[in-house]
Amino acid sequence: MADAALVELAKRRGFFFGSNGAYGGTAGFYTFGPQGAALKRNVESAWRDRFTLQEGNREIESPTVMPEPVFEASGHLETFDDMLVECGECGDSHRADHLVEDATDVEDAEALPAEEVETLIRDHEIACPACGSPLAGRDVEDFNLMFATDIGPGDGQRGYLRPETAQGIFVEFPRLKEYARGNLPFGITQIGPAYRNEIAPRGGLLRLREFTQAELEQFIDPETDDPPLERVTDVEVRLYPAAEQTKPDGDYRHTTVGEAVADGTIGSPWVGYYLGVAMEWYERIGVDLNRFRFRQHLAGERAHYAADCWDAESEVDGDWIEIAGFAYRGDYDLSKHDAYGDDTFTVFKRYDEPKTVERATVDPDMSVLGPAFGGDAAAVADALETLAERDPEAFAAETVAVEVDGETHEVDADVAGFAVEEVTETGEHITPHVVEPSFGVGRTVQTLLAHAYETDEVDDEERTYLSLAPEVAPRDAAVFPLVTSDERLTALADRVAADLRAAGLAVSYDDSGSIGRRYRRQDEVGTPFCVTVDRDGIETDGAETVTVRERDSAAQVRLPVDELAGELTRLLSGESFEALTDRYETVETDVETN
Ligand code: GAP
Repeated sequence: MADAALVELAKRRGFFFGSNGAYGGTAGFYTFGPQGAALKRNVESAWRDRFTLQEGNREIESPTVMPEPVFEASGHLETFDDMLVECGECGDSHRADHLVEDATDVEDAEALPAEEVETLIRDHEIACPACGSPLAGRDVEDFNLMFATDIGPGDGQRGYLRPETAQGIFVEFPRLKEYARGNLPFGITQIGPAYRNEIAPRGGLLRLREFTQAELEQFIDPETDDPPLERVTDVEVRLYPAAEQTKPDGDYRHTTVGEAVADGTIGSPWVGYYLGVAMEWYERIGVDLNRFRFRQHLAGERAHYAADCWDAESEVDGDWIEIAGFAYRGDYDLSKHDAYGDDTFTVFKRYDEPKTVERATVDPDMSVLGPAFGGDAAAVADALETLAERDPEAFAAETVAVEVDGETHEVDADVAGFAVEEVTETGEHITPHVVEPSFGVGRTVQTLLAHAYETDEVDDEERTYLSLAPEVAPRDAAVFPLVTSDERLTALADRVAADLRAAGLAVSYDDSGSIGRRYRRQDEVGTPFCVTVDRDGIETDGAETVTVRERDSAAQVRLPVDELAGELTRLLSGESFEALTDRYETVETDVETN
């Protein structure tokens, strides 16, 4: 669907719109209206169900503001940059890599050095999209995407809004591992806001400055932990491996998760496992799988922490959009926090049987080191200990050389007190590796709207409807009294709506305008079932009845009010509407009056 039509529908029907309109608007911030907030919440619930509950993982909620040392450790301060080029004429800022990709054959300009991007801008005479002035000669600079803030008054601590929910999980690992009783593998999830000061926000929910992520950090022992791959081995996937992207005639690989892991196309079985789980999940929430693929990152495209990464991409308005990333982060994050933080980011891995090993130790004679090295004596002793572990052979010579703060010190070997002891070890401390499925909730919502957008003709009128999966649709059902002039109809409609709400359904009630208009309004927000209370339903002998209309086919059946909640619940859980048309009387579509 055209972007403009989606954005117009999203605004008109209360899915999402630019925030702070009364103050001129703020680029990169969107408010979810009543329909959009419900749709987003349902996507998050479906994600929680699949990636937290069904996987036996645990969810946390951590603060969005974190102190500066966290981001020194994580590498975000140093490397979380985009390429910025500013127009010398109008002052507008642009993503230099995006301008180059739009104007040339280069697919991954982000991976190029800044000077090369400057050259491409000059050689291709790329102009400012805002005012048309040439950008040749302008510097391409690194722009850090984190929002900075101050924690506390005065000279309080420097902080940042987290650019990914993941860091809130990593920094709490020392406590989280206790909750898992130190046993790997375990997974921690978090759904919440992340912030990036994007240079050029665009595309509705696609590139925002505040957005919601749903992330899973799977902590594993890379030597012993395998995923339950058999559960998804037959799941079919369309892969676009890095090697295919760089060939002139590169193509997709249509394969299964099991085959792709077995032949090494997907290097990590854990990444393969979660691609399979994600594939099933995307199908469940209504992503059009003909407009979906998994694309492997090219080497220069990977984030600073990722050893391998695959993106889930959906086609929206002719472009491929990254809606989730599946990264093998290795021990990058936990090692960094272990080195920078004051806590331990390792787990103790117990051996099946205790092992007796030889351990090189030193017991330096400090009465000699003290006078010889003064203030450096303790550091020399530590350096001797490290050397003994790393290179015990070094102590075979008469003197041993160690380095402290760049200075080499010679120590007599017999002063070092070197010995090799036999010790019994019950285990070792290891740094877990991390596999990370990371989903953008807003991008998923926009994909669902784009893929659900349909037009057809009902009763000789063109209509627009959203064929959203019932699980994520903002409302389960809508209830209408056919006319408001008859109190018997409004009373029964009120009761039907209340009963359905009491049964746990999200129900709209609409009594304004013609019944045709009311159907169209619900069609446009994707309500899967409309329930109409008409005179036939109260004037016939026997049980009260209502009509139930299915959104996509516009087919209707008449069924007893007493059966309504049960039948709708079954339909919402996946039973087909045809099953109802077999059991109940069918009705002409979109009745106007009776
Ligand atoms: N922890 C890993 C991580 O943050 P990412 O690929 O940078 O990885 C994960 O982000 C997902 O978050 C993306 O696949 C995308 O869906 C979403 N996302 C990233 N930046 C976004 C932005 N500026 N606006 C909306 N969604 C964004």
